[in-house]
Amino acid sequence: MEQVNYNIITLTRFLTEEQSKHKEATGDFTLLFHALQFSFKSIAYYIRRATLINLTGLAGSSNTTGDDQKKLDVISNDLFINAMRSSGKCALLVSEEEENVIYFKDATQARYAVACDPIDGSSNLDAGVSVGTIFAIHKLAEGSKGTPEDILKPGTELVAAGFTMYGASAQLVITMKGGTVNGFTLDNGVGEFILTHPDMRLPRKRAIYSVNEGNSLYWEDPVKEYFESLKQLQPESKKPYSARYIGSMVADAYRTLLYGGIFAYPADKKSPKGKLRILYECAPMAMVFENAGGQAVNSKMERMLEVVPETIHDKSGIFMGSYDEVEKVKSFHKK
Ligand code: AHG
Ligand code: MN
Ligand code: MN
Ligand code: MN
Repeated sequence: MEQVNYNIITLTRFLTEEQSKHKEATGDFTLLFHALQFSFKSIAYYIRRATLINLTGLAGSSNTTGDDQKKLDVISNDLFINAMRSSGKCALLVSEEEENVIYFKDATQARYAVACDPIDGSSNLDAGVSVGTIFAIHKLAEGSKGTPEDILKPGTELVAAGFTMYGASAQLVITMKGGTVNGFTLDNGVGEFILTHPDMRLPRKRAIYSVNEGNSLYWEDPVKEYFESLKQLQPESKKPYSARYIGSMVADAYRTLLYGGIFAYPADKKSPKGKLRILYECAPMAMVFENAGGQAVNSKMERMLEVVPETIHDKSGIFMGSYDEVEKVKSFHKK
């Protein structure tokens, strides 16, 4: 028989309790987050219904970084923008699907700047494979009304970041500056995100690697040598690593967060700046991984969170995962 739990921690309860820990908190962050979680629920709803209501396939347009936009990229972007606008707490928004920064001029009291990837992994959408939404939240500089400088900041300045993965269930992972990483599952019955994975910690090591090996022709030598080494018998286990690559960074990262291992999208000879974008893909993921006890570095083996983007859609190579696995990548780059 199903056990009734009378003491569940909903996202709302979690945020309220977090807010009460900070005397100076105004409640603005909590309100902003309410708007965020509503966009996740709406996006989850449309993804689930996509094949039934003709929302599969291409929109017929492309975005600034050259990706063909799917209908759901465009719809999710609009859902996200409207959630941020109506919150009244967001001064400006950067989205993968928008060439320029969006300023919400009516939100005169807003103190936050948000970056988002409305749908990460959109090439997987039509096959019903897990995709996600990534978000990163910065605070405006004191006295600022919202300028590009309020978002062109390194990940070390983020006040909060995370993602939702739309898989068999919708999983929301959030972390705040200097805090732990907490995972919530959307209970469709009550329409709430419920805390199911408190204080997520990455295993220190795990023999799983996640990378698009179709790009190996273009990899630099240290990257080639590193991945080749994983396919050899390992000293302890006497087995090679396992490969797992979904092609939705959120889903690959979520598995890596739970099971351990390494996820990489290296810069290479064809794409010297890598593929993933710093503001709404690399930095928020790096914050989650570091706060869960892992590491994230760029292709120069610099700490990902310290990388300052030059433009809002600036890209970077990335290696992130279990602490010891990232140490191993670094050792190959020192040789
Ligand atoms: P997006 O769908 O937001 O444009 O991101 C795509 C990214 C990321 O989800 C994934 O890790 C990667 O692209 C997959 O790229 P490849 O198909 O080149 O492996
Ligand atoms: Mn895209
Ligand atoms: Mn993406
Ligand atoms: Mn995207």
